[in-house]
Amino acid sequence: MWESEIMEKLVVKDGCIGCGICIGENPDYFEFGDEGLSVVVKPEVAKEDKGRILDSIEKCPVEVIVIEEEKTE
Ligand code: F3S
Repeated sequence: MWESEIMEKLVVKDGCIGCGICIGENPDYFEFGDEGLSVVVKPEVAKEDKGRILDSIEKCPVEVIVIEEEKTE
């Protein structure tokens, strides 16, 4: 049987200014990289964590956090 699934992947795009909101709220998903900018440490967002991740996405002052959707076949 053919099935496809939507995979969601958490990404910090170029342009982070290192304000730290996302890291402060979700240290299990983001951390400061060598350049003092946010890097994603856990790209798969668990269902129960989605609310707080979306909250950080809204709060990021430069709007560089996104959840990308990938279709797998
Ligand atoms: Fe950077 Fe936005 Fe987080 S500026 S540190 S990605 S809240």
